[in-house]
Amino acid sequence: MKNSIAIIGGGGSVGSAVAYALIVRRVASEVVLVDLDQARCDAQVLDLSDAAHLFDTHVRSAPAKEAGQCDIVVVCAGAKQRPGENRIDLIGRNKEILGSVIESMKPFKKETVLLLVSNPVDVLTHIAQKLSGLPVGQVIGSGTFLDSVRLRGELAKTLNVAETAIHAYVLGEHGDSQFVAWSSASVGCTPLMSLPQIKALNRDALAESVKNKAYRIIEAKGFTQFGIGAVTAQICESIILDLRHVRPLSHYVEEYGVCVSLPAVLGHKGVQETLKPPLTADEEAQLRRSAAELKKGIAACGM
Ligand code: 2OP
Repeated sequence: MKNSIAIIGGGGSVGSAVAYALIVRRVASEVVLVDLDQARCDAQVLDLSDAAHLFDTHVRSAPAKEAGQCDIVVVCAGAKQRPGENRIDLIGRNKEILGSVIESMKPFKKETVLLLVSNPVDVLTHIAQKLSGLPVGQVIGSGTFLDSVRLRGELAKTLNVAETAIHAYVLGEHGDSQFVAWSSASVGCTPLMSLPQIKALNRDALAESVKNKAYRIIEAKGFTQFGIGAVTAQICESIILDLRHVRPLSHYVEEYGVCVSLPAVLGHKGVQETLKPPLTADEEAQLRRSAAELKKGIAACGM
Protein backbone atom coordinates (compact mmCIF):
# COMPACT_ATOMS: atom_id res chain seq x y z
CA MET A 1 0.00 0.00 0.00
CA LYS A 2 1.62 3.24 -1.15
CA ASN A 3 1.62 6.03 1.42
CA SER A 4 3.12 9.50 1.55
CA ILE A 5 4.24 11.80 4.32
CA ALA A 6 4.80 15.50 3.72
CA ILE A 7 7.13 17.62 5.85
CA ILE A 8 6.43 21.34 5.93
CA GLY A 9 9.74 23.02 6.67
CA GLY A 10 11.47 19.94 5.26
CA GLY A 11 14.54 21.92 4.31
CA GLY A 12 15.32 22.86 7.89
CA SER A 13 17.28 21.16 10.67
CA VAL A 14 14.23 19.49 12.26
CA GLY A 15 12.35 18.76 9.02
CA SER A 16 15.35 17.08 7.39
CA ALA A 17 16.00 15.03 10.55
CA VAL A 18 12.36 13.86 10.45
CA ALA A 19 12.77 12.98 6.77
CA TYR A 20 15.95 11.01 7.45
CA ALA A 21 14.35 9.09 10.34
CA LEU A 22 11.30 8.26 8.19
CA ILE A 23 13.59 6.94 5.44
CA VAL A 24 15.84 4.75 7.60
CA ARG A 25 12.79 3.33 9.40
CA ARG A 26 11.08 2.68 6.03
CA VAL A 27 7.90 4.32 7.36
CA ALA A 28 6.56 5.67 4.08
CA SER A 29 6.85 4.86 0.40
CA GLU A 30 7.22 8.58 -0.30
CA VAL A 31 8.55 11.53 1.71
CA VAL A 32 7.63 14.96 0.31
CA LEU A 33 9.59 18.02 1.45
CA VAL A 34 7.99 21.46 1.34
CA ASP A 35 9.98 24.60 2.21
CA LEU A 36 9.94 28.31 1.37
CA ASP A 37 13.69 28.08 0.80
CA GLN A 38 13.44 26.00 -2.39
CA ALA A 39 17.19 25.87 -2.99
CA ARG A 40 17.85 24.45 0.49
CA CYS A 41 14.88 22.08 0.10
CA ASP A 42 16.21 20.77 -3.23
CA ALA A 43 19.64 20.25 -1.65
CA GLN A 44 18.09 18.24 1.21
CA VAL A 45 16.19 16.13 -1.35
CA LEU A 46 19.42 15.45 -3.26
CA ASP A 47 21.23 14.46 -0.06
CA LEU A 48 18.34 12.39 1.37
CA SER A 49 17.84 10.57 -1.93
CA ASP A 50 21.22 8.85 -1.44
CA ALA A 51 19.78 7.29 1.74
CA ALA A 52 16.31 6.77 0.26
CA HIS A 53 17.69 4.46 -2.44
CA LEU A 54 18.86 2.08 0.31
CA PHE A 55 15.44 1.93 1.99
CA ASP A 56 12.97 1.71 -0.92
CA THR A 57 11.69 5.20 -0.29
CA HIS A 58 11.10 7.96 -2.82
CA VAL A 59 11.90 11.50 -1.67
CA ARG A 60 11.00 14.68 -3.54
CA SER A 61 10.05 18.30 -3.00
CA ALA A 62 6.62 19.66 -3.93
CA PRO A 63 4.43 22.73 -3.51
CA ALA A 64 2.35 22.99 -0.29
CA LYS A 65 -0.86 22.28 -2.23
CA GLU A 66 0.28 18.68 -2.81
CA ALA A 67 1.08 18.20 0.89
CA GLY A 68 -2.61 18.48 1.78
CA GLN A 69 -3.27 15.25 -0.14
CA CYS A 70 -0.65 13.20 1.76
CA ASP A 71 -1.53 10.64 4.46
CA ILE A 72 0.37 12.61 7.12
CA VAL A 73 1.56 16.22 7.08
CA VAL A 74 4.32 16.95 9.60
CA VAL A 75 4.58 20.68 10.35
CA CYS A 76 8.13 21.69 11.32
CA ALA A 77 8.03 25.16 9.76
CA GLY A 78 8.64 28.19 11.94
CA ALA A 79 11.11 30.07 14.07
CA LYS A 80 13.12 28.10 16.61
CA GLN A 81 13.99 29.06 20.15
CA ARG A 82 17.04 31.27 20.41
CA PRO A 83 19.33 30.59 23.40
CA GLY A 84 17.45 31.71 26.50
CA GLU A 85 14.03 31.87 24.77
CA ASN A 86 11.26 29.54 25.91
CA ARG A 87 8.84 27.82 23.54
CA ILE A 88 5.88 30.08 24.37
CA ASP A 89 7.98 33.08 23.22
CA LEU A 90 7.61 31.77 19.65
CA ILE A 91 3.81 32.13 19.53
CA GLY A 92 3.60 35.43 17.62
CA ARG A 93 5.99 34.41 14.84
CA ASN A 94 4.83 30.82 14.46
CA LYS A 95 1.09 31.39 14.62
CA GLU A 96 1.30 33.53 11.46
CA ILE A 97 3.47 30.97 9.67
CA LEU A 98 1.11 28.14 10.63
CA GLY A 99 -1.93 30.06 9.38
CA SER A 100 -0.43 30.62 5.94
CA VAL A 101 0.89 27.06 5.73
CA ILE A 102 -2.55 25.57 6.47
CA GLU A 103 -4.29 27.87 3.98
CA SER A 104 -1.77 26.87 1.29
CA MET A 105 -2.54 23.15 1.81
CA LYS A 106 -6.34 23.27 1.98
CA PRO A 107 -8.50 21.43 1.11
CA PHE A 108 -6.97 18.45 2.94
CA LYS A 109 -7.68 14.85 1.99
CA LYS A 110 -10.37 13.85 4.52
CA GLU A 111 -8.15 11.14 6.08
CA THR A 112 -5.04 13.34 6.37
CA VAL A 113 -3.43 13.47 9.83
CA LEU A 114 -1.81 16.81 10.68
CA LEU A 115 1.14 16.33 13.07
CA LEU A 116 2.47 19.52 14.66
CA VAL A 117 6.12 19.60 15.71
CA SER A 118 6.83 23.37 15.58
CA ASN A 119 6.77 25.16 18.93
CA PRO A 120 4.92 26.04 21.02
CA VAL A 121 3.54 22.71 19.88
CA ASP A 122 0.49 22.54 22.19
CA VAL A 123 -0.76 26.02 21.27
CA LEU A 124 -0.06 25.47 17.55
CA THR A 125 -1.93 22.13 17.65
CA HIS A 126 -4.94 23.89 19.13
CA ILE A 127 -4.77 26.59 16.42
CA ALA A 128 -4.31 24.01 13.66
CA GLN A 129 -7.46 22.20 14.82
CA LYS A 130 -9.42 25.41 14.41
CA LEU A 131 -7.96 26.34 11.02
CA SER A 132 -7.63 22.97 9.25
CA GLY A 133 -11.24 21.79 9.24
CA LEU A 134 -10.00 18.25 9.98
CA PRO A 135 -11.52 16.15 12.82
CA VAL A 136 -9.74 17.09 16.09
CA GLY A 137 -8.36 13.54 16.55
CA GLN A 138 -6.55 13.94 13.24
CA VAL A 139 -4.77 17.12 14.35
CA ILE A 140 -2.19 16.25 16.98
CA GLY A 141 1.19 17.39 18.29
CA SER A 142 4.41 15.58 19.25
CA GLY A 143 3.84 16.97 22.75
CA THR A 144 5.77 15.46 25.66
CA PHE A 145 6.63 12.22 23.84
CA LEU A 146 10.21 13.51 23.39
CA ASP A 147 10.39 14.60 27.05
CA SER A 148 9.14 11.15 28.12
CA VAL A 149 11.80 9.47 25.97
CA ARG A 150 14.42 11.70 27.61
CA LEU A 151 13.11 10.74 31.06
CA ARG A 152 13.03 7.00 30.27
CA GLY A 153 16.58 7.17 28.93
CA GLU A 154 17.84 8.64 32.21
CA LEU A 155 15.83 6.17 34.33
CA ALA A 156 17.12 3.25 32.23
CA LYS A 157 20.71 4.30 33.01
CA THR A 158 19.95 4.78 36.72
CA LEU A 159 18.07 1.48 37.11
CA ASN A 160 20.23 -0.49 34.64
CA VAL A 161 17.20 -1.81 32.72
CA ALA A 162 16.12 -1.49 29.06
CA GLU A 163 14.39 1.81 28.21
CA THR A 164 11.48 -0.24 26.81
CA ALA A 165 10.90 -1.72 30.28
CA ILE A 166 10.22 1.72 31.73
CA HIS A 167 6.70 3.13 31.58
CA ALA A 168 7.06 6.71 32.78
CA TYR A 169 5.35 9.77 31.35
CA VAL A 170 6.08 13.48 31.25
CA LEU A 171 2.64 15.12 30.93
CA GLY A 172 1.15 18.56 30.33
CA GLU A 173 2.83 21.23 28.22
CA HIS A 174 5.82 20.43 26.06
CA GLY A 175 7.53 23.24 27.87
CA ASP A 176 8.32 24.79 31.22
CA SER A 177 5.09 23.71 32.97
CA GLN A 178 5.49 19.99 32.13
CA PHE A 179 5.64 17.46 35.01
CA VAL A 180 6.44 13.79 35.60
CA ALA A 181 3.58 11.48 36.63
CA TRP A 182 5.78 9.56 39.10
CA SER A 183 2.85 7.90 40.86
CA SER A 184 1.84 5.86 37.77
CA ALA A 185 5.39 5.06 36.56
CA SER A 186 6.47 1.41 36.49
CA VAL A 187 9.40 -0.81 35.55
CA GLY A 188 7.86 -3.89 33.98
CA CYS A 189 4.81 -4.28 36.23
CA THR A 190 6.55 -3.03 39.38
CA PRO A 191 5.63 0.50 40.52
CA LEU A 192 8.71 2.70 40.11
CA MET A 193 8.17 4.30 43.50
CA SER A 194 8.41 0.91 45.23
CA LEU A 195 11.95 0.26 43.98
CA PRO A 196 14.66 0.71 46.64
CA GLN A 197 16.94 2.51 44.13
CA ILE A 198 14.36 5.27 43.74
CA LYS A 199 14.90 6.43 47.32
CA ALA A 200 18.44 7.49 46.37
CA LEU A 201 17.23 9.26 43.20
CA ASN A 202 16.70 13.03 43.27
CA ARG A 203 13.48 12.95 41.24
CA ASP A 204 12.99 16.72 41.18
CA ALA A 205 16.51 17.23 39.82
CA LEU A 206 15.93 14.55 37.17
CA ALA A 207 12.59 16.09 36.11
CA GLU A 208 14.25 19.52 35.89
CA SER A 209 17.14 18.13 33.85
CA VAL A 210 14.72 16.50 31.40
CA LYS A 211 12.65 19.69 31.14
CA ASN A 212 15.76 21.79 30.41
CA LYS A 213 17.62 19.37 28.12
CA ALA A 214 16.52 21.20 24.96
CA TYR A 215 17.84 24.50 26.34
CA ARG A 216 21.27 22.89 26.90
CA ILE A 217 21.37 21.52 23.37
CA ILE A 218 20.15 24.82 21.84
CA GLU A 219 22.78 26.73 23.82
CA ALA A 220 25.50 24.47 22.42
CA LYS A 221 24.43 23.82 18.78
CA GLY A 222 21.60 26.28 18.12
CA PHE A 223 18.73 23.77 17.74
CA THR A 224 17.62 20.22 18.55
CA GLN A 225 16.84 17.80 15.72
CA PHE A 226 17.68 14.09 16.14
CA GLY A 227 15.49 13.32 19.18
CA ILE A 228 12.45 15.06 17.72
CA GLY A 229 13.21 13.51 14.32
CA ALA A 230 13.19 9.96 15.70
CA VAL A 231 10.13 10.53 17.88
CA THR A 232 8.20 12.05 14.98
CA ALA A 233 9.07 9.10 12.73
CA GLN A 234 7.81 6.71 15.41
CA ILE A 235 4.53 8.66 15.69
CA CYS A 236 4.14 8.45 11.89
CA GLU A 237 4.81 4.70 11.97
CA SER A 238 2.01 4.17 14.54
CA ILE A 239 -0.37 6.14 12.30
CA ILE A 240 0.58 4.57 8.96
CA LEU A 241 0.52 0.98 10.33
CA ASP A 242 -2.39 1.61 12.72
CA LEU A 243 -0.28 0.20 15.56
CA ARG A 244 -2.40 1.59 18.44
CA HIS A 245 0.67 2.53 20.49
CA VAL A 246 -0.04 4.55 23.64
CA ARG A 247 1.99 7.76 23.47
CA PRO A 248 1.96 11.08 25.41
CA LEU A 249 0.83 13.34 22.56
CA SER A 250 -0.61 16.83 22.45
CA HIS A 251 -4.29 16.47 21.62
CA TYR A 252 -7.56 18.15 22.56
CA VAL A 253 -8.71 17.07 26.03
CA GLU A 254 -12.28 18.19 26.72
CA GLU A 255 -11.78 18.20 30.51
CA TYR A 256 -9.11 20.93 30.24
CA GLY A 257 -10.36 22.72 27.09
CA VAL A 258 -6.93 22.78 25.45
CA CYS A 259 -4.46 20.56 23.61
CA VAL A 260 -2.19 19.03 26.21
CA SER A 261 -0.14 15.82 26.46
CA LEU A 262 -1.80 12.85 28.10
CA PRO A 263 -1.28 9.20 27.09
CA ALA A 264 -3.33 8.52 23.96
CA VAL A 265 -4.03 5.56 21.69
CA LEU A 266 -2.49 6.36 18.29
CA GLY A 267 -3.72 4.76 15.05
CA HIS A 268 -4.49 5.51 11.41
CA LYS A 269 -7.07 8.15 12.42
CA GLY A 270 -4.60 9.91 14.72
CA VAL A 271 -5.57 9.99 18.41
CA GLN A 272 -8.37 7.49 18.92
CA GLU A 273 -8.69 7.60 22.71
CA THR A 274 -7.23 9.42 25.71
CA LEU A 275 -5.99 7.15 28.54
CA LYS A 276 -5.59 9.55 31.46
CA PRO A 277 -3.71 7.77 34.27
CA PRO A 278 -4.78 8.10 37.93
CA LEU A 279 -2.96 11.18 39.29
CA THR A 280 -2.19 12.30 42.82
CA ALA A 281 -3.76 15.59 43.91
CA ASP A 282 -0.40 17.30 43.34
CA GLU A 283 -0.05 15.81 39.83
CA GLU A 284 -3.59 16.87 38.95
CA ALA A 285 -2.81 20.38 40.17
CA GLN A 286 0.30 20.45 37.97
CA LEU A 287 -1.73 19.29 34.98
CA ARG A 288 -4.32 22.02 35.58
CA ARG A 289 -1.49 24.59 35.94
CA SER A 290 -0.05 23.43 32.63
CA ALA A 291 -3.45 23.68 30.92
CA ALA A 292 -3.90 27.19 32.37
CA GLU A 293 -0.50 28.24 30.94
CA LEU A 294 -1.57 26.92 27.53
CA LYS A 295 -4.90 28.75 27.73
CA LYS A 296 -2.94 31.96 28.35
CA GLY A 297 -0.87 31.23 25.22
CA ILE A 298 -4.00 30.63 23.14
CA ALA A 299 -5.61 33.81 24.47
CA ALA A 300 -2.42 35.70 23.51
CA CYS A 301 -3.08 34.57 19.93
CA GLY A 302 -6.63 35.88 20.05
CA MET A 303 -7.92 32.34 19.33
C1 2OP B 1 12.93 19.96 22.00
O1 2OP B 1 12.41 19.75 23.11
C2 2OP B 1 13.13 22.22 20.99
O2 2OP B 1 10.98 21.38 21.57
C3 2OP B 1 12.29 21.01 21.11
O3 2OP B 1 13.95 19.39 21.58
